[in-house]
Amino acid sequence: MKNKKKQSAKRGRQRMSGTEVMPLWAGGFLERLSKEAFSYSASFPYDKRLWKFDIVASIAHARMLGTCKVIADEESKLLSSELEKMLREIELGKLKLEGNYEDIHSFVESTLTERIGDIGGKLHTARSRNDQVVTDMKLWMRSAIAKLCEAICELCEALLSASKKHIDFLMPGFTHLQHAQPVRLSHHLMAYFWMMQRDADRLIDLHRRMNLSPLGAGALAGVDFPIDPKMTAKMLGFDGCMRNSIDAVSDRDFIVEFISCCAIVMVHLSRLAEELVLWSTPEFGFVKLKEALCTGSSIMPQKRNPDMAELIRARCGRVVGALTALLTVLKGLPLSYNRDLQEDKIAMFEAFDVTHSSILMATMLITSAEFNGEKMRSSLRGDFSTATDLANELVRKGIPFRHAHSIVGKLVRELAQQGKGLEDVTLEELKQYCDAFDEASLMAIKPEVAIERRAELSGTAKASLRRQFAEAKRYIKNVRKFIAGLKLLGEP
Ligand code: ARG
Repeated sequence: MKNKKKQSAKRGRQRMSGTEVMPLWAGGFLERLSKEAFSYSASFPYDKRLWKFDIVASIAHARMLGTCKVIADEESKLLSSELEKMLREIELGKLKLEGNYEDIHSFVESTLTERIGDIGGKLHTARSRNDQVVTDMKLWMRSAIAKLCEAICELCEALLSASKKHIDFLMPGFTHLQHAQPVRLSHHLMAYFWMMQRDADRLIDLHRRMNLSPLGAGALAGVDFPIDPKMTAKMLGFDGCMRNSIDAVSDRDFIVEFISCCAIVMVHLSRLAEELVLWSTPEFGFVKLKEALCTGSSIMPQKRNPDMAELIRARCGRVVGALTALLTVLKGLPLSYNRDLQEDKIAMFEAFDVTHSSILMATMLITSAEFNGEKMRSSLRGDFSTATDLANELVRKGIPFRHAHSIVGKLVRELAQQGKGLEDVTLEELKQYCDAFDEASLMAIKPEVAIERRAELSGTAKASLRRQFAEAKRYIKNVRKFIAGLKLLGEP
């Protein structure tokens, strides 16, 4: 029995036979982790994606340990130079991220120890995988936020240039999917711009809140070596350190917020996608999507299906699902670290991948969409969408709005019965409904006039759009400035 224990402890410092790898923690174990338990619990297949952030954070940690004299200077130098070498080799494809490792942290430490011997085991002094994994994820997230913001800027630019190009395209604005009031296509497109602007804003705000280093928390209680967490925080581009070690290793709010931001982006994109699907039907005919972004039917030769828009619409579900998954993991979870938390990465990566690729696809759809101004303008004929403007003409003559509403309501019903629209009405006919109607009333029912009258702050008139364009440009510039100021340590 005693002998067995000794052997097992020795094994703990070595690689095991064949493809089996000794877990970092197995020094005191008599039994090996069963194959089934290993494959059920290993996160290496997906957290290998964090490799660069893990190595860069380890280099910072090793340097700090040296500076603080927790390990010797030469040891610190050896650790960081070997880690740098590993980083380059992975980049060149010489060192492959494969093998039976429990997670990325085990891969890095085991490979390091295999190369430089026992000194490799000093890297984990004054650190735990619990503070390490949060560090890695926060560094990853900084890059992910930058990538998402950059993609949002591109989509915003596409929306802005489509809006500028089609400033003279008039179309019905909808409520309840019924023709409501005429608007400029630009105004409708710019509504999406402002949604995306808030999305970028939310990500920037999240960055401000999450950019604090958890290092120094150790497993949960802090570290009993004279380390300098502020030093590692600074080296890694954090704005400061977390204040409570238990919170530092237990907190996943930043991931909940990140996935929430992604989910809101996806909800926005799903609305845009739905309109592209709808608008590209022959019934609407407002837009033609680029053929290279449509698919055909295996049986009906005439089909041009808007699959890319449909998939954006559908994939929103995956991100909302990821948010639900993580919130459910956290609900009722006791402090501090529990293995449940390992599941955070699956949700986080899924949310990013789906959201980022969907923003790119939405940008391609918008950039290449051919809007049909004729079809939009003609759908305003006979649709009574300036009925409100006609009622407002009476209001200007002193008639209470409710009364004006009912006068025009009656007119609309009777014109519709005769198969006529507002554009067909004569002044004589108007006068039969109310004496206060005059020449100006006939002007007011022209969509061009109705639109230009809405020039106040957020209206659909050209002047309002010009103001939106100017602000939009400034906004994109600010987001790009934020991205340029970030210390990015790898690709998300
Ligand atoms: N793979 C683990 C995770 O992602 C790393 C932290 C492991 N910590 C532990 N105490 N087992 O959560």
